[in-house]
Amino acid sequence: MARDISKVGVVGLGTMGAGIAEVLARSGIDVVAVELDEAGVARGQGHLRHSTERALAGGKLDEAGREALLARVSCSTSLSDLSEVDLVIEAIPESLAAKAEVFSQLDKVTRPDVVFVSNTSSLSITEISVHTARPGKVVGMHFFNPAPVLKLVEVVRTVVTEPEVVTDVVAFAERLGKVPVVMGDRAGFIANALLFGYLNHAVRMYEQRYATREDLDAAMRFGCGYPMGPLALLDLIGLDTAYEILDTMYHQSRNRLHAPAPLLKQMITAGLLGRKTGRGFYAYD
Ligand code: CAA
Repeated sequence: MARDISKVGVVGLGTMGAGIAEVLARSGIDVVAVELDEAGVARGQGHLRHSTERALAGGKLDEAGREALLARVSCSTSLSDLSEVDLVIEAIPESLAAKAEVFSQLDKVTRPDVVFVSNTSSLSITEISVHTARPGKVVGMHFFNPAPVLKLVEVVRTVVTEPEVVTDVVAFAERLGKVPVVMGDRAGFIANALLFGYLNHAVRMYEQRYATREDLDAAMRFGCGYPMGPLALLDLIGLDTAYEILDTMYHQSRNRLHAPAPLLKQMITAGLLGRKTGRGFYAYD
């Protein structure tokens, strides 16, 4: 019998965590969201307010629906408040040590049958799972940015994930209105493995002054029908996140396609991370 999932913990309320919390709450699921400190909670609540205001302006939600959605998300700075949840989704920054620490604390406070999900895009789910006391109940659930809009969820199983956990998480993703695809634990999963060679190539073309950023982006938007050009998309993803993903794939495959373009590193060092810092390939207000 499929497990009953009515209350979910979300650890980390950055862009992805807040987007995931919104998706859950929109599907009628109670969310307990945990951040490191009050400033993190305030930032996360700001993401939620901003995104639901957009939905309100676009007619996708009415005011009552928005209030009900926000009321379903309670925030905390303590992982011990996740003692009652049926599943946990971790969406903290990409550090194996930090994720291992979160899951080892969660092992102590949650029921042993609770499934642990990571939204990682660049770490191995297998490596995360072996830092828990329940590796068979650990899967990846990789959402795409912006999570409230994009339908894909990559469900990542390891060699020890219990098959019924995968079945339950696939059913859960469908309940959220998402389109799940299932795969083994390989760097880049499916979508990033295909996407990031292209994005990296665009950075190299820009670096070599092959074309302006506007023309590079316009070519893919108006010639290939992509919703955004590659450099604008890198700004949305975050250059630091993109670098981590490329670097992991490069170390796993040694495929030069994924060797991060030097310009990416320089921009990261200079603090040009994309939309989140107000400047990347483009400037944002
Ligand atoms: N949060 C919530 N809703 C958002 C949003 C956000 N951050 N951004 C856009 N939306 C909503 C808007 O409110 C709008 O809703 P309505 O249709 O109800 O008006 C809708 O999405 C379309 O938005 P816009 O009209 O403002 O602009 P758009 O049509 O250009 O769409 C976009 C914006 C959805 C971001 C679109 O350009 C797009 O899909 N771009 C590609 C994004 C992409 O490829 N993401 C994957 C990155 S890879 C990844 O995430 C994996 C990883 O591991 C890094």
